[in-house]
Amino acid sequence: MATLVSAWTAAGRRLDVAGVDSPVIEARLLLEAAAGVSRSQIIADPHRTLEDDQAATLEAYLARREAREPISHILGVKGFWKIMLRVTADVLTPRPDTETILDAVLPDFAEDQRFSVLDLGVGSGAILLAILAERPRAIGLGIDVSEEALAVARENAANLGLAARASLLRGDWTAGLGDESFDLVVANPPYIPTAEISDLAPEVRDHEPRVALDGGADGLEAVRALAPQILRVLRGGGRFAVEIGIGQRAAVESLFEAAGAGDLRTIEDLAGRERVVTGAKKPLGQSAASA
Ligand SMILES: C[S@@+](CC[C@H](N)C(=O)[O-])C[C@H]1O[C@@H](n2cnc3c(N)ncnc32)[C@H](O)[C@@H]1O
Repeated sequence: MATLVSAWTAAGRRLDVAGVDSPVIEARLLLEAAAGVSRSQIIADPHRTLEDDQAATLEAYLARREAREPISHILGVKGFWKIMLRVTADVLTPRPDTETILDAVLPDFAEDQRFSVLDLGVGSGAILLAILAERPRAIGLGIDVSEEALAVARENAANLGLAARASLLRGDWTAGLGDESFDLVVANPPYIPTAEISDLAPEVRDHEPRVALDGGADGLEAVRALAPQILRVLRGGGRFAVEIGIGQRAAVESLFEAAGAGDLRTIEDLAGRERVVTGAKKPLGQSAASA
């Protein structure tokens, strides 16, 4: 009969052989979910025996992870910023890198400020819902081309008690928006060059939605469309923040400059990679030369 500690050790070995990046940590997370125990319970009572159904559940989880299905799909959840999100194969698994957007925009909006935010390519709702959770008087709109992703975002908004402040609509970027305008626009668009997708880790290449990854031949197709659209839907003086891929800073900054943005800056993620281009729409009446 396997115990918590023997099951953890054996699972870690299997995931290591399968090429998983953090096998020991992931083995523990799968064990916790399969056996319904916490990390401290494993440490306090390592020789507790696994029930048959718990061992069977762990076996099923391990087989999926050995096939390089993302652990977020197996567990069905992923933490992002300070919120927990439901995640399925229909959405990009939220990444810690994307939290750089929160670092970039939150200082510009006071905690009790009323403002509107638009999240283009909302996916699971990660960015939009993390902002609304931090700013209780903000309201937001999330747009995605994928109806399946929107269903996940709606579930997350409801689970987090944010549904009343988060509208979620299907659309091709801002095409359906008319003359609405926003104080803040955020986006984490697809930005991987098409030819590089086959070289990505199997978890991403084989299990994440292609529409969330593929940025066209040079990776910049989405942001090329987005830069003028973001400037169009921003209020004068409003801010934007857009996630970028490696080496895309100069190209993305010039796309936003050409679209009329001011105060352009690029912010690094925790690993020191240029990750988010942020800027502002010049206030009405301010000429491009004086911005
Ligand atoms: C990289 S994912 C980001 C998801 C989420 N915002 C996050 O950061 O975790 C890009 C998202 O853009 C959506 N998308 C791609 N093309 C789109 C388009 N033309 N209009 C609206 N959304 C689009 C995809 O469905 C996907 O959900």
